[in-house]
Amino acid sequence: QTTPDLKDKKVVITAGPTYEPLDPVRFIGNHSTGKMGFDIAVEAASRGAGVVLITGPTSLRITHPAVKVVHVTTANEMYQQCHKFFSSADIVIGAAAVADYRPKVVADQKIKKNDEEFVIALEKNPDILASLGAVKSHQFLVGFALETENEIEYAKSKLKKKNLDLIVLNSLNDKGAGFGKPTNKVTFIDKDFNVFPQELKSKEAVAKDIIDQIVKSYAK
Ligand code: C5P
Repeated sequence: QTTPDLKDKKVVITAGPTYEPLDPVRFIGNHSTGKMGFDIAVEAASRGAGVVLITGPTSLRITHPAVKVVHVTTANEMYQQCHKFFSSADIVIGAAAVADYRPKVVADQKIKKNDEEFVIALEKNPDILASLGAVKSHQFLVGFALETENEIEYAKSKLKKKNLDLIVLNSLNDKGAGFGKPTNKVTFIDKDFNVFPQELKSKEAVAKDIIDQIVKSYAK
């Protein structure tokens, strides 16, 4: 029996990839499955929270009475939905792999091939979490960082820059961690730069650890 330590809390979670269209049939995307975010949503709901899960395209489904799923496709749509639910949120967890760039022009019709080189101009997408960090009042904000070098230092600077309360660092140097895997190995870094390395675990177990850490840091 889990303790309802998130009772009466509203938790907003982003998950999955975003797809950035090029034309009606093509997009730029990434390999995020959304599993980490979905597992966090189930864990938060099972501990009493009311959850809004804002997810990019994924094959995952949730049927939990306390989880409202909002489907989006692009980073801009995810941005809109996050800001819509932000003021009523107590905790926001950004687990989505948001595309950093989108095609500058989206063609109305399918782009035809020819013999020339084809160059796609990209423009910057908004940083959703940083934009929430810039306007937050009471909300506890959690981000992820996926790094391949100087992990702890980069994660700390991300925490500061985006005005987060907690960051979950995924190191790609750890076997079994990251995209498409059922397991993850993370390190938590809190606002005071305390570093808490965790063991390699199933994503469900990592989701539980993340909620435990949020509850601990939130109580402080
Ligand atoms: O800056 P970086 O992409 O490494 O930051 C990762 C964290 O920021 C994740 O929590 C991710 O969900 C969030 N993010 C976001 N909007 C973006 C890029 C990343 O919310 N455009």
